[in-house]
Amino acid sequence: MRRLLVIVLAAGEGTRMKSALPKVMHKVAGRSMVGHVLETARAAGAAEIAVVIGPDHDRVAAEVARVAPDAGVFVQRERLGTAHAVLAAREAIARGYDDILVMYGDTPLVQPQTLEALRAPLAQGAAVTVLGFRPADPAGYGRLVTQDGRLVAIREEKDASPAEKAIDLCNAGLMALDGALALELLAGIGNANAKGEYYLTDAVEAAIARGRTAAVSEAEAGEVAGVNTRAQLAEAEAVLQQRLRRAAMEGGATLVAPETVFFSADTRLGRDVVVEPNVVFGPGVAVADGVVIRAFSHIEGATLAAGVSAGPFARLRPGAALGEGVHIGNFVEIKNAELARGVKVNHLSYVGDSTVGEGTNIGAGSITCNYDGFNKHRTTIGANAFIGTNSLMVAPVTIGDGAYVGTGSVITEDVPADALAIGRARQVNKPGLAARLRERLQAFRKAPAEG
Ligand code: UD1
Ligand code: CA
Repeated sequence: MRRLLVIVLAAGEGTRMKSALPKVMHKVAGRSMVGHVLETARAAGAAEIAVVIGPDHDRVAAEVARVAPDAGVFVQRERLGTAHAVLAAREAIARGYDDILVMYGDTPLVQPQTLEALRAPLAQGAAVTVLGFRPADPAGYGRLVTQDGRLVAIREEKDASPAEKAIDLCNAGLMALDGALALELLAGIGNANAKGEYYLTDAVEAAIARGRTAAVSEAEAGEVAGVNTRAQLAEAEAVLQQRLRRAAMEGGATLVAPETVFFSADTRLGRDVVVEPNVVFGPGVAVADGVVIRAFSHIEGATLAAGVSAGPFARLRPGAALGEGVHIGNFVEIKNAELARGVKVNHLSYVGDSTVGEGTNIGAGSITCNYDGFNKHRTTIGANAFIGTNSLMVAPVTIGDGAYVGTGSVITEDVPADALAIGRARQVNKPGLAARLRERLQAFRKAPAEG
């Protein structure tokens, strides 16, 4: 096993995004771009991950701490180029690794097997390998200059001759370096170029000058395209959604209209799950076997046990934990609530900060009133209870097993097990009063017309 250090460059400001957020914090499939890169670095088997961030990038540092807590964070104080950025992690390189892999924080879709292919030539003696691709429009990318099929240089667009500009094989930006040579190569790179920057890409010529070889590993354009603009962010989103939809179907889920279903990178689906059109999965969703998610549902931070049915138009928010066979119907919102096996909430309800026992039925339009404007309170409902239509449960409140809440109740006090609770005004019937009222109202309407 060759020991691997991954260095993630994320110091760019991303001015073309026109955003208050650092570029690498923008999300693709519910996860920040730098988060994707860190996950991939981990999946590639990195022994150490070093992330290079800009001086005011506290949010990036916080995201790194969240996604990859043991990654080292290095600050590049001045933005003097990609080679300079890599050297910000000099300390990590000096620890001694077989392979060093440089990834860009704005290139989120690269897959672990591509990194493996990129590293492979190092084991055969190459000093540097570069990930190449053939974009539809090569403008702006570094060109891979070859001689007799061997990579001899990378020429940035601004420094390229017309002949070099005609080369369609471009630098995707990912590079693998021989760990024993990396510091020497990087330290020797100068900034005599059109941008006056220290280019990481010059590592190729530096290696050749030392009698070593450089290799190219080619990848699909859709996988390695970098994100510099919001339009490219949307393109990356589209590519990743395609990938996630395909994976869901390969895993045994039916997507009736795959192009209308949006996943998060971490969505987990079991087998024989059916997802109807226009469903959105936010982060943190786990769906077990045999679940049916009907059209126009929005689900995030929720777990759905086997045989659950949700929607159409269900909203499942973080902390919704639905037990086996739970039924959630239209226009129902569930938040931070555990619903045990067989619970039914079929129409127009809000259940939040609650625990609901097995087999309980919550009638149409029922609401747990969990917020008093200052604090959130819990509603606890036992097993096999029946909550009548249009009931309000003012938390904190507990309703016992087998209790029955009369339709239209406002429940402000605990209901014991097997009790019937009715919390509404008693009905009064006044015989004949409607007819008399009608006469009087009619007379009143005529009066002004005659006068
Ligand atoms: C770079 C490559 C180019 C390649 C292209 C692919 C160089 C010199 N050029 O060009 O060959 O085709 O990517 O997208 O490497 N960064 C820092 N600190 C710096 C400069 C950059 O951290 O001082 C980071 C940026 O945040 C970004 C990455 O390095 O993630 C690439 O930098 P950028 O300036 O976007 O390089 P390109 O001009 O796109
Ligand atoms: Ca770029």
